Amino acid sequence: MKIFVATHNAHKLREIAAILSGYEIVADDPAGAEETAADFAGNALIKVRAIAARHEGEWCLADDSGLEVQALGGAPGVRSARYAGEPTDTAANNALLLKNLQGMDDRRANFTCAVALVDPNGIEHVVQGRCFGRIACSPSGAAGFGYDPLFVPDGGEKSFAELSAAEKNAISHRARALVEARGVIERLAAPRRGKNVSAWLRFFRVVNLPTVPGDVLAGGAAALAGAAAWSGGGLGGIAWAAAASVFWYLFGLADNDIVGASTDRGRPVPSGEISLRAARLARGLCWGGVLAVGAACPLPPRWWMAGMVLFIAIVVYNRTKHPLLMGLCRGLNVVCGAMAAVEGGFCVRQWTYVLAVAGVWTVYIAAVTKYSDGEESDPFRKATVGMLVGALVYLQLGALVVFTLMVPQLRWLLVAGAVLLVALRIAKLSMPKVSAS
Ligand code: IMP
Repeated sequence: MKIFVATHNAHKLREIAAILSGYEIVADDPAGAEETAADFAGNALIKVRAIAARHEGEWCLADDSGLEVQALGGAPGVRSARYAGEPTDTAANNALLLKNLQGMDDRRANFTCAVALVDPNGIEHVVQGRCFGRIACSPSGAAGFGYDPLFVPDGGEKSFAELSAAEKNAISHRARALVEARGVIERLAAPRRGKNVSAWLRFFRVVNLPTVPGDVLAGGAAALAGAAAWSGGGLGGIAWAAAASVFWYLFGLADNDIVGASTDRGRPVPSGEISLRAARLARGLCWGGVLAVGAACPLPPRWWMAGMVLFIAIVVYNRTKHPLLMGLCRGLNVVCGAMAAVEGGFCVRQWTYVLAVAGVWTVYIAAVTKYSDGEESDPFRKATVGMLVGALVYLQLGALVVFTLMVPQLRWLLVAGAVLLVALRIAKLSMPKVSAS
């Protein structure tokens, strides 16, 4: 397998090739890519992106490294190569470093290396390696490059420039970052993609799925309960609309993970468990599912209109992450149920009931979504969000009880709602490790 490496530095290329042995390492000069980021990871990303554009569908790698000295507040840092000005002058850099540390007792320092990877799906990964040590009072040794004669790694008295290449490579920041990078490549290149059922269950957040059709049942019940007289129909349309809403929801989840493929690290696409191509296919199939269900019934034109607004809300939410839009998606599910339930026109009372339910749903889910900000780093918040999303089924059931008390013929919807509640309980109990968010 080929890995394109963004460098024109033969020394680095040898070190990278040694650690990534077994892969075909191909150098590609990221000429023109200006290293303007404030940290090593940012600069590594700038370089890797410059070459990834030329090698779509292939692995690309870039690194950025430098020296950070504690007493100098992390300097020279990202300016390591140009510490004493441009063009790079190693002797001047080392002299300036010694001058700035003159008379200082605290000489702790570390080299840091960030390695940025772009995988064949175009997803970015960043790993880091560090080597801790101190800055000597005078240079020693002739091997290596850059600040090597001044840097004495912890656990010894010799500077990097006094170590053999093999000794340095065993502990260097670059070696450590590259070993991590190798781990990422091996994990993602392993042929287990798409075969992992648990990854697909997490991809589609199956545990929360039973909360979706209940929106449609509640909306349908609101429309039927608000009618002047029991029309006798509507239950079949509601069932189809509920199935379609499940497909909309699955479409939205797939689209969300595709859009956030580079950022949401714990999810199956960024982690490489599901390839971006498979995720895109799944998203297309979900769209197909909506069309198939909508046409099979067939559902009325006004359901299609509500469904299209729902589609837009899903797509815009995934790209803006505005909590109100997430709430609106669930509110629109309610409206879709109402649109599928009634054949004739809507009276004011029907609109009032439907919009009241849709409004409550919108506000509730928007609030839960807002609260879920930062749940990844807060297990309590994550668990609470899972509980609050699950509680939606109780809200749905409550609405169905009220509407059934008003119109007893709606009892079948109430039974369906109770089935969904049981399904949710089973899903939560049988998949404790599946993310509830
Ligand atoms: P680069 O941008 O990763 O090529 O590294 C920037 C600068 O950091 C180099 O020009 C060196 O001054 C310094 N540097 C990075 N790694 C090392 C190392 O292993 N030994 C000495 N200096 C290094």
